[in-house]
Amino acid sequence: MHDWLTHPARLPLVAPSILAADFAMLGDESRAALDAGADLLHLDVMDGHFVPNLTMGPDACSAIRLHLPGVRLDTHLMVEYPDRFFEAFARAGANAMSFHVEVLPEGDEEAVVRAWVQQLHDLGCAAGLAINPPSELQPAMFDLFAACDYALVMSVNPGFAGQAFMPEVLEKVRRLRLELGPQARIEIDGGIGPSTAPAARDAGADMLVAGSAIFGHDRHAWAEIIAAIRDGR
Ligand code: DX5
Ligand code: ZN
Repeated sequence: MHDWLTHPARLPLVAPSILAADFAMLGDESRAALDAGADLLHLDVMDGHFVPNLTMGPDACSAIRLHLPGVRLDTHLMVEYPDRFFEAFARAGANAMSFHVEVLPEGDEEAVVRAWVQQLHDLGCAAGLAINPPSELQPAMFDLFAACDYALVMSVNPGFAGQAFMPEVLEKVRRLRLELGPQARIEIDGGIGPSTAPAARDAGADMLVAGSAIFGHDRHAWAEIIAAIRDGR
């Protein structure tokens, strides 16, 4: 069902975060990013509670889906109660949704992750588990990550595009790559661009989210920037 995650045509995948795009031209910006070589689009959903910002909801997602019927939409749920939104985003055309380890109820993490992964699979979506920079990667979490289709290591504190990459999170990427094996998809998100992507790739990340490094530049440079994020040195 999610062969773009399990058997991607090329690795690493580059996922522009449209949070950094011009919101008045979202469809156009999204299409241009794909034309420039992006593999999928990353949608940042924020609720003003889990993170101190508000961004887009299912309506924005379905507008992009209508405009770009074939695009892969990776939806990053930076919200306190992600499962309340699974159905709405699935109906809006999301292909993948990640939720955060920090919102899991203490003591019940494993059961909740398994239930949410099942719900997402029943909706036809891939499930990702995200971890914030201050959260320690505990051995007990490896089973949680293994139960999901992809891991998402945040390399900034979530909330805003354009923040500086935090290299200390690369240790988590290395650990996850070691624990989850070569077939796992590990996404990294925050401050990724041509200068930080090589270290992220070396650590084992194979889905690279980039917002301002792409949308903060002139469109004619996007193809070169995306290629550099994918395999530049
Ligand atoms: C941060 C978001 C990221 C962010 C990426 O809260 O989850 O996806 O928009 O933007 P850049 O690449 O500019 O850090
Ligand atoms: Zn994100």
